[in-house]
Amino acid sequence: MKVLDAEFVQGFIRMADDGWLQGWHERNGGNLSYRVKPEEIETVREELNPGEWKPIGTTVPKLAGEYFLVTGSGKYFRNVSIKPEDSCCIIELDGQGENYRVCWGLVNGGRPTSELPSHLMNHEVKVVATGGRHRVIYHAHPANTIALTFVLPLTDEAFTRELWEMATECPVVFPSGIGVVHWMVPGGRDIAVATSELMKRYDVAIWAHHGMFCSGEDFDLTFGLMHTVEKSAEILVKVRSMQPYKRQTIQPDDFRRLAADFHVELPERFLYEKY
Ligand code: 13P
Ligand code: ZN
Repeated sequence: MKVLDAEFVQGFIRMADDGWLQGWHERNGGNLSYRVKPEEIETVREELNPGEWKPIGTTVPKLAGEYFLVTGSGKYFRNVSIKPEDSCCIIELDGQGENYRVCWGLVNGGRPTSELPSHLMNHEVKVVATGGRHRVIYHAHPANTIALTFVLPLTDEAFTRELWEMATECPVVFPSGIGVVHWMVPGGRDIAVATSELMKRYDVAIWAHHGMFCSGEDFDLTFGLMHTVEKSAEILVKVRSMQPYKRQTIQPDDFRRLAADFHVELPERFLYEKY
């Protein structure tokens, strides 16, 4: 089968397009990666043409030998659906999880996203934390979430609680909460270590003054997670723009009742008394 005909590639392209249409990907902002299933890679193997091994910039031994579909560095999400073979690539990792090689795509040159260390370290953490169920890591620059990193305390507690309060579905969609990474230089191992540490506990990590990372099982769930968090952030921005304080909101005991009815566990450390 041609790579571009494979269902996982079609799903990846559609998700990139959806992110672009949301306005989360100015210029080359954001990046996406998918951990390809062994049976999926077999369906496209005839088209794979491995290049040179290159260092990942970190070590991910638990992902040794795995294949990933990833966006290219400096590539624009608005072009992914128009010229996917220029904007994306399939990479293979070596037996130590230290090097990668491009096997398909990036036909006009280039390299995988500069955030490859963060993507792969997040994947590695999720392989352990979810028994391999999570396959998608998504980074975007959604404006409302970024705006909140200038006005809310940069703590997991503040972001989780504030965003849970803005829509009743939120604690059900991201019950484990949201992690926050203080401002750091992007594109390297240090921010990858900090982010993947949070991903042990959460499916969402916010990078202060930069953007958001989400992890999920498939394209729908991961896109839906980013969409839900950003929508909640948008509501909070609107509320704060009208007046500094909420006149009424969802209270800790309301969350506890919600958790019981929807069969989710909401950590008590996010249900602190505010007023
Ligand atoms: P890349 O173009 O290298 O993927 O970088 C975009 C980005 O959002 C960096 O954080
Ligand atoms: Zn970014």
